Amino acid sequence: MSVSSPIQTIKIPTSFSDQKPGTSGLRKSSRHFEQTHYLESFIEAIFRTLPGVEGGTLILGGDGRYGNRRAIDIILRMAAAHHVKRVITTVDGILSTPAASNLVRLNNAIGAIILSASHNSGGINGDFGVKINGSNGGPAQESLTDEIYKCTQTLTEYSICKNQTISLQKPDKYVIFNMEVTIIDGVDDYLKLMQKLFDLDKISDFINDDFHIAFDALNAVTGPYAKKLIEGLLKAPEGTVRNGIPKEDFGGLHPDPNLTYANKLAELLLDKNSSYSFGAACDGDGDRNMILGRGCFVNPSDSLAILVANYKCVPAYCNGLKGVARSMPTSSAVDVVAKELAIPYYETPTGWKFFGNLLDAGKITICGEESFGTGSDHVREKDGLWAVLFWLQILAEKRISVAELMKDHWLRFGRNYYSRHDYENIPTDIAFSLYERLESLSNKIIGKNFAGSSVKHMDNFEYKDPIDNSFIDQQGIRIFLANGSRVILRLSGTGTKGSTLRIYFEDYVPSTGDLKQDPQWALKNLIQGIDSLAEISTRTGMNRPTVIT
Ligand code: G1P
Ligand code: ZN
Repeated sequence: MSVSSPIQTIKIPTSFSDQKPGTSGLRKSSRHFEQTHYLESFIEAIFRTLPGVEGGTLILGGDGRYGNRRAIDIILRMAAAHHVKRVITTVDGILSTPAASNLVRLNNAIGAIILSASHNSGGINGDFGVKINGSNGGPAQESLTDEIYKCTQTLTEYSICKNQTISLQKPDKYVIFNMEVTIIDGVDDYLKLMQKLFDLDKISDFINDDFHIAFDALNAVTGPYAKKLIEGLLKAPEGTVRNGIPKEDFGGLHPDPNLTYANKLAELLLDKNSSYSFGAACDGDGDRNMILGRGCFVNPSDSLAILVANYKCVPAYCNGLKGVARSMPTSSAVDVVAKELAIPYYETPTGWKFFGNLLDAGKITICGEESFGTGSDHVREKDGLWAVLFWLQILAEKRISVAELMKDHWLRFGRNYYSRHDYENIPTDIAFSLYERLESLSNKIIGKNFAGSSVKHMDNFEYKDPIDNSFIDQQGIRIFLANGSRVILRLSGTGTKGSTLRIYFEDYVPSTGDLKQDPQWALKNLIQGIDSLAEISTRTGMNRPTVIT
């Protein structure tokens, strides 16, 4: 390199051993990411591993959390040093995960780097993350993230262009070394896509005819999207979007749209006399959604089943679904619908990346997870606002309430009572020994009494991808009972403190008139059963989960 080259090579004294991406990218505390060379090491590994970097187009943005601005600056300078041709980034760096996926596809990009720790809290005392998406717009496949990890372990240096901070205040164009930087509005293209999929005028007429809605962006990325979409295109009254300005620490809120963390919205809707008919919230980076009706909460597994059952209400899907998929721990409510409607259905491991091949191969149109994620083949990520529009379109078409829609669904298809219990921040050794002990019981408990039934089968979920035959095992302990119920245990791959144990309970009741039954009550035998079998309270010292969904 000539003396005047702007590219610098910086030595990393010791490589980092803890840069193995989890369920969705590398996620650590914000302070951890601020260690000298830490972010740079991971980014260097991405640029050395991602196909097509030299001469390619890259999408870059994030959910606005603390660390975003610094990371964008570093990544732009490193991208230029790695001869990326063009980076498309956004005003203030604001880019939701589904919008990033859309931009990758629109621009034939090599992929995206999304700066987010999703639904984890933000700020200097919160978490930061780097997600990597491939050229199909979806989360990078396991084989690529494994390569990236391998690269980080032996890395001794990285390349970066000399300091050059660019302003992200408005749409603009810059050049760094030989690389073009295009700054666009991160909301526009996404809105155009939504306009193609839905009949927004019909939704607008419906919600402005005495069907009050509330949307909580939890001070995270969906604020600007929801304002333009809900208060703009759908003409909902100003103030419909709450907490709509992205803040670096999410204003102290935990941007996870569930009943625990989006409790303000839940309080507003769960009141039977609420003046609101519909409520929704999205997570930090906009891929998750929670749906509420007046006096009712829609379990995400039911939400997926209801979207599939009513696909005919939505313009983009009314001609039929190619197939549907759910992650293994998601309830089988969607399977019941798919069987009834003769739609092919698939079961995949936890994590959106496992839907990618099925979507790319045209095998499925809609997919979802119990963890508040639903999406379709319009992008390659789950999409929070898309799910909100899908729900509103069904309600507008049928002109009924959320509670009525759910009641009709359960009467027709039966109800899968379902709940997830999370035990967060367990010391890692305790979590692993609990999990391993339970797994070792496998052969010993078949046929034994469990929760008023008996154990029919127990295994650890394995998956062979039907498209590329890739194989993955150890995806969660499954206990199936003779009466059709099941309990699943997994250790989370997205936590940053200790270990998180997730337990999923499911019990199916064919067409039920008992619509008010509380799932915790309906599942109480399973809940007690697993506590004594896996010794959860004794081993963790926790007598209740930290989050119940
Ligand atoms: C969690 C969810 C999973 C989701 C992922 C990313 O992963 O359970 O469904 O795909 O977040 O949003 P986990 O922490 O369970 O590994
Ligand atoms: Zn997310």
